Amino acid sequence: MANAEKWVLTVTAQTPTNIAVIKYWGKGDEDLILPINDSISVTLDPDHLCTTTSVAVSPAFTHDRMWLNGKEVSLSGGRFQNCLREVRSCANDVEDEKEGVLKSLKGLGDLHVHMCPTIDFPTAAGLASSAAGLACLVFSLAKLMNVKEDHSRLSAIARQGSGSACRSLYGGFVNGSFLKEENGSDSIAVQLADEKHWDDLVIIIAVVSSRQKETSSTSGMRETVETSMLLQHRAKEVVPERIIQMEEAIKNRDFPAFARLTCADSNQFHAVCLDTLPPIFYMNDTSHRIISCVEKWNCSEGTPQVAYTFDAGPKCRINFTQTEKLLPNFFKGCSFHFPPNSDTDLNSYVIGDQTILQDAGIKDLKDIEALSTPPETKENLSAQKYRGDVSYFICTKPGRGPAVVNDESRSLINPEFGLPK
Ligand code: DP6
Repeated sequence: MANAEKWVLTVTAQTPTNIAVIKYWGKGDEDLILPINDSISVTLDPDHLCTTTSVAVSPAFTHDRMWLNGKEVSLSGGRFQNCLREVRSCANDVEDEKEGVLKSLKGLGDLHVHMCPTIDFPTAAGLASSAAGLACLVFSLAKLMNVKEDHSRLSAIARQGSGSACRSLYGGFVNGSFLKEENGSDSIAVQLADEKHWDDLVIIIAVVSSRQKETSSTSGMRETVETSMLLQHRAKEVVPERIIQMEEAIKNRDFPAFARLTCADSNQFHAVCLDTLPPIFYMNDTSHRIISCVEKWNCSEGTPQVAYTFDAGPKCRINFTQTEKLLPNFFKGCSFHFPPNSDTDLNSYVIGDQTILQDAGIKDLKDIEALSTPPETKENLSAQKYRGDVSYFICTKPGRGPAVVNDESRSLINPEFGLPK
């Protein structure tokens, strides 16, 4: 390719985040990021939570560069390098038409790239931003380099960036499968059902206020693998059975089974964290209160209507509920127990799909203050309020997988120079 040609080719893509209902915790191989057990996740609606990445390739670039949320960061990390190398190895020539001139661009895999990932949701939410970020990077680079391989190959590449990232290559309900090959080529994500399969599933994320210092999932799971005997039992005996049951629950849209498995798996994940030496505490008092509220609510309803799951960030606490009729009441219960601080406005207390507010008859903060004792407290359980303990809620639902953004005005890279806008 003639170096005099200073063309810049760009692609922008959006990728959702996901939350695991059967958790991945522990690697068999740290470099290849081979999980020790399968996991199952739900992809969240990218209209509410996603990452956007613009990437560019050009013969004019002198080295690979990345700007995360607009700020240049080092690319020395092995995980990024592995993903980049793998995508490059699958690159194909591309035909590009700009201003009516058709150009055949060859050898894209040998050129340097510029990458501009942005996380479009508050990182304080503690959601798996690395999962969505890595998946988005792999997906957008693959589009840029005209990679013909399917999403399962891309998921194996994204897995080498972050174990949970492989699941963000698909929408809906996804299994991050760990199979047999030592090189990890068959450790890929598989879509179990798309997002339309169970579209009355509602996901509420309670972002808990916390100043707790975080143990990263990478180092946390390493310590668990080294010290917890419970983890071995979990990976060999418990998870394989749960995966089969969870796949069945999803296939049949069996919410009580889905809820029981989700809560049990979240609790066992935190039990293996406690079984680690030194123990890892991801949940705090507010998390425990949320669990207790959900358990009491389900008990008063007679069958599980809500599920909770908590990941490895101290600030991320996630609930599911299903029945549209019950949702407004459940949400009223949440806002009764965890009302916002007086300096919070309603639009920052509930983000994402705000219809939940109208359905619950909440028009302003006064309506929250006026809420009466929620139903699960009938049996004389605590009616106590924990003001400000939940900073805000994000309401969302299962969503689609990654997509290219064709609207050039949304690109984060200047198409002329290949630098951040
Ligand atoms: C608790 O995928 O963040 O969210 O592979 O080291 O990058 P690395 O870890 P990561 O771990 C996610 C752990 C989890 C469970 C899950 O998402 O399955």
